[in-house]
Amino acid sequence: MPTAASARLVHRASELDVALNDLPTRPPEVGVVLADPAFFDVEYVINAHMVGNIGSVDRARARRQWEALRQTYAGLGYDIHVLDPVPGLPDLVFMANQSFPARLPTGQWAALLSYMHAPERRGEVEHVAAWYRDRDAHLVHLADAEVPFEGMGDCLWLPGRRGVVAGHGFRTQPRALGLLCETLDVPVLALELVDARFYHLDTCLSLITESTALWVPDAFTAEGRQLLQQAFDTLVEVPLDEATELLACNGHCPDRQHFIVQAGAERTNAAARALGLTVLELDTTEFLKSGGSVYCMKLMLP
Ligand code: ARG
Repeated sequence: MPTAASARLVHRASELDVALNDLPTRPPEVGVVLADPAFFDVEYVINAHMVGNIGSVDRARARRQWEALRQTYAGLGYDIHVLDPVPGLPDLVFMANQSFPARLPTGQWAALLSYMHAPERRGEVEHVAAWYRDRDAHLVHLADAEVPFEGMGDCLWLPGRRGVVAGHGFRTQPRALGLLCETLDVPVLALELVDARFYHLDTCLSLITESTALWVPDAFTAEGRQLLQQAFDTLVEVPLDEATELLACNGHCPDRQHFIVQAGAERTNAAARALGLTVLELDTTEFLKSGGSVYCMKLMLP
């Protein structure tokens, strides 16, 4: 299989040699995987949002919030899969982080498995790997070396296209992105994250289409901001208070029509409506205590 000319790691605007809406297309996702929140809690602090929240989760409330999320995706027509909970793995509910599902250039259905940055979370990956194994996915470890890589927390498929926008710095490391680019044979826009409140790319960039995104400019370097400005026709700034307190950029647009997001982010939601989206507000406040919201609680399956 010849390598696509544009399949490289792109760090700066001058290196971008392709228009994102010219990239080969990718079929829409059809399934959503959620992990049962039975053991969700804040038991350690590995991001700035978790500070002061140890032991503060109301599990019954968390379950009601998670059920509403599940109903929302089901209502949009997605097949819902639920991973069993595992005691001692309170962050397993953040299903975006342990893997990156993909079609390989051969068309084979695969999952690139994460190597979590925090030792507390490393045990999650084998449970997610087992789930994929039962569904005949080809499992890929990005490297023999232990290079942190946190799946769809830091790597976002471009909606509808074979291209990836990726963050690195706090969790995923750049070497993993080079390997991802080689494995998938797609261009990977690599953005360094510089504000600890936005430790995963999905906390500061929300892709709506291949040419439109919501973002938090302060989360990126000047080089990264220029690259995003070059790559996307429309970038809508999310107010810093809504992005930090409500993780508004962790909202998810699965289908170019709906934006599922933590309730109360008024200005972000007005901006999403101005883009023509129907905003579906949910309460994810128990999960915000752990630094996560809609986008990171689910895994989209191709
Ligand atoms: N407590 C989890 C962590 O710090 C939250 C993960 C949220 N995931 C995300 N993709 N933003 O790892």
